[in-house]
Amino acid sequence: MCGIVGYVGGGSAKEMILSGLKSLEYRGYDSAGIALIRKGKLLVRKESGKLKALEAKVGGPEFDGPIGIGHTRWATHGAPTRENAHPHQSGDGRIAIVHNGIIENFMELREELTRENEIRFVSETDSEVIAHLISLYYDGDLFDAVRSASRRMRGAYAVAALAESEPDRIIAIRKDAPLIAGVCAEGGLIASDIPALLKYTKDVYFIENNEIVVVTRGGVQIFDEEKTRMNRTRTHIDWDVTAAEKGGYEHFMRKEIFEQPAGIRETLRRRIDDSGHIALDDLEFTKEELDGLERIYIIACGTALHAGLIGKALIEKYARIPCEADLSSEFRYRDPIVNERTLCICISQSGETTDTLEGLREAKRKGAKILSIVNVVGSSVARASDHVFYTWAGPEIAVASTKAYTTQLTSLYLIAMYMGLLRGTTDEAACGRLLGELAEAPAMVEEVLKNEERFIGLAKEHYKKEKIFYVGRGLDVVTAQEASLKLKEITYINSFAIAAGELKHGTIALITKDVLFFALATQAALYEKMISNIEEMKARKAQVVAIAKAGAGRIGEVADDAFFIPECSDEIAPLVSIVPFHLISYHIAKLRGREIDQPRNLAKSVTVE
Ligand code: AGP
Repeated sequence: MCGIVGYVGGGSAKEMILSGLKSLEYRGYDSAGIALIRKGKLLVRKESGKLKALEAKVGGPEFDGPIGIGHTRWATHGAPTRENAHPHQSGDGRIAIVHNGIIENFMELREELTRENEIRFVSETDSEVIAHLISLYYDGDLFDAVRSASRRMRGAYAVAALAESEPDRIIAIRKDAPLIAGVCAEGGLIASDIPALLKYTKDVYFIENNEIVVVTRGGVQIFDEEKTRMNRTRTHIDWDVTAAEKGGYEHFMRKEIFEQPAGIRETLRRRIDDSGHIALDDLEFTKEELDGLERIYIIACGTALHAGLIGKALIEKYARIPCEADLSSEFRYRDPIVNERTLCICISQSGETTDTLEGLREAKRKGAKILSIVNVVGSSVARASDHVFYTWAGPEIAVASTKAYTTQLTSLYLIAMYMGLLRGTTDEAACGRLLGELAEAPAMVEEVLKNEERFIGLAKEHYKKEKIFYVGRGLDVVTAQEASLKLKEITYINSFAIAAGELKHGTIALITKDVLFFALATQAALYEKMISNIEEMKARKAQVVAIAKAGAGRIGEVADDAFFIPECSDEIAPLVSIVPFHLISYHIAKLRGREIDQPRNLAKSVTVE
């Protein structure tokens, strides 16, 4: 959850680190700090709260230098205080480290270091043990000390270290936490995430588990555990700097909501060839391979799982392969039936979500082939997969996922149809119809976005409600779940989603006049059933706002209010019907004065279990 940045070069380390940390603010943090070496002295400044507080502390030229590391911390072990903020230092103050991840055996190490080495800990964090361990092993060579210390650490970590007596290099190491390195005209850089480096370079090295990076003014060198130099090619990142900036929008979330038509278009453009056919040949599936599959598991978390639930329905319909969508965090612990006749599809915007990465590894251990749907090029999930389908949403910065979701859905339509065509379980005509509609989807989303004033009106009417529930049937249940998640995470309103047919089995007891229901009714065959469900809610005095397709008839009279998305097939509806909820949640959060891009307790990529 934390952000790491490091720089060695001819420029100002402070400037680069602050700019890098700023671009990682979206990760969520509650304290920040920098360690620099200036004229042979290791200097550390840290503050609780936002970067502004730190900036105020590092203002003058007396705090700057050619080499430094920086960190934004999201509190896990210990409160968000200055003491617990990174960088952490060794007792003599000559080693400083920043750490992203969790050291699982930190208690044991802490007790040992206190007992046997009389080390006095000044923070409550798990990370501080790393600084002391490195210092204990330090014998004039930071590389060796970091390597030895890492052998004592269990858990997940990306660590960057500085030693006062080695003012020309940063040593960094990773295990199960993201770390990238890059080179710019003036020096070498490391960071936990791509946006931190974009201003300086677009060509990055993805560091693998247990690799050690030496960052110097001359660039970066990567070594394995045995100190063998690794020859790596750089990955070019296709994002531009402005894509990771707000560009005049008040919040990243609103910008990203409005970027959805472009994201869907780009994801399609990359996968539809000039003759209008789906081009997924690089995934290298054969008919025999697909025919031999016993089942497909889709694993993901949060919003990505919701995309997976729609994907399950599409794959079963078009490719006729049994498919289950499961939470990564459950999948990995429930001994799922996985073998070499299983395909595991991992969906992740960041490609760094620990639960999904571990689920992927579990499926791989059991013999499954892995196809991942990922937004971040070269991320851990992508690198661990046999096949990768990149979504082309561009950087998603707001914690609440919007454009990643609609591009994940777009990818799943293409994958399901591609598999169906390869297996012969669907025909060109059916796919042609769906493809034609997909091509129209960006325009349909644009149409919905034009109604922002309408959603602002709805938000104004309902933002004080304390209970907002979402119902639907068929694919609409998934949209209801995703809409409810969006509302919860950025407005903190109590909300859940339920299949409308399930209401009468218990949940109906919660309905009072204070409840607002959003009722989705985009699925033609279930439309009349939804009308009955809305009547049930109305009979119990709840307020109901319906979302249906244009031309849907009397729903507008049954519900208190209704919004109509453009006419489309039932299958395409989830891609369009989620968009009103993005804007409604956004405007409710705004009216409630919430921190929209970085809601409380949340981080953009969840790299802890
Ligand atoms: C979405 O709004 C959430 N912030 C969250 O559920 C997210 O989708 C989930 O943590 C998975 O992240 P990933 O796609 O990066 O793996």
